[in-house]
Amino acid sequence: MAIYSATVTSPVNIAVIKYWGKRNPSLILPTNSSLSVTLSQDHLSTRTTIACSADFESDRLWLNGVEEDISASKRLVNSIGTARALRASEEAKNPELAPLSQYKIHVCSENNFPTAAGLASSASGYAALVSALGQLFELPQSTAELSRVARVGSGSACRSMFGGFVAWRMGEKEDGEDSMAEQVAERAHWPDLQALILVVSDKKKAVSSTAGMQTTVETSALFAERVRSVVPARMQAMEKAIKERDFAEFAKITMQDSNQFHAVCLDTYPPIAYMNDTSHAVTRIIHAYNAVKGYTAAAYTFDAGPNAVIYAPKSEMRDLVQLFSYLFPRDEDVLPEVFYTNPFGLVGA
Ligand code: PMV
Repeated sequence: MAIYSATVTSPVNIAVIKYWGKRNPSLILPTNSSLSVTLSQDHLSTRTTIACSADFESDRLWLNGVEEDISASKRLVNSIGTARALRASEEAKNPELAPLSQYKIHVCSENNFPTAAGLASSASGYAALVSALGQLFELPQSTAELSRVARVGSGSACRSMFGGFVAWRMGEKEDGEDSMAEQVAERAHWPDLQALILVVSDKKKAVSSTAGMQTTVETSALFAERVRSVVPARMQAMEKAIKERDFAEFAKITMQDSNQFHAVCLDTYPPIAYMNDTSHAVTRIIHAYNAVKGYTAAAYTFDAGPNAVIYAPKSEMRDLVQLFSYLFPRDEDVLPEVFYTNPFGLVGA
């Protein structure tokens, strides 16, 4: 029997201008554009292999070795179905192509980081799924076009289709045709920028990003103001800071945007609190660190959970790791309160 297969590795991305809010929940169209840094593939990434064959009887998926029910996830069904439709239209144009769009697929997906660590895995997961489907089906679409397919799996996943600095343009069209990711700069443009991840808690977040966004859109007045008057200007300023490798500006906008995203969550009714006391301590430590240094030496950002990502130039990383090791000594017997790792591979903790 003929088996066709493709394997792809996709990394996690961490937003510096946050995506929060959907204007169309089923197509996953956002209320604002966002911008992120895709981390190194060596550290936090998902490796996905997809095989298809006329002999397979059903679509099946194994996540970290455990079989999951594809049909239970509308998003999985949507992304796989969209990729199949793209393949089917190629087959219609070229009858010599094998009818892969009609074959069942087997998907095997593994994260190289503990899924329990509470780090965003849906972004790397859906980006790897869609990239692997793109290769398997030999789709002619560009990466930006395929990012639309990743988007219907998980919004932030569209940004993980590219490396480096990536913008997700919210678009204007109702069908989502123009809501896709675009690379703003390659990773090699700013190699001196490093990221340090502080895993504050490995617990699953209490409010999923989907549920949280929905309540925010419905109830927060601050959110409406953020979308209308804050994010568009920040997107422009952030792209300029990245182009000019201006760390002070990059850091300021990153911290302000993280703070506003969490303020919007608190302004949601009932309120959503993703950061905990340790997260808030990390923000104070970074501001104190910058004050002591006399310049902007580091920036923090937090997603929908208490874990911190610290962005800083390479030259600061050793001091930062030492500082956090001193302030949050790791207890090897229980889960570390703060676990530090450098996803760009500079310093060992
Ligand atoms: O793509 P989702 O549904 O996991 O939402 C991600 C939202 C944030 O991580 C909080 C922000 C972002 O832009 O990644």
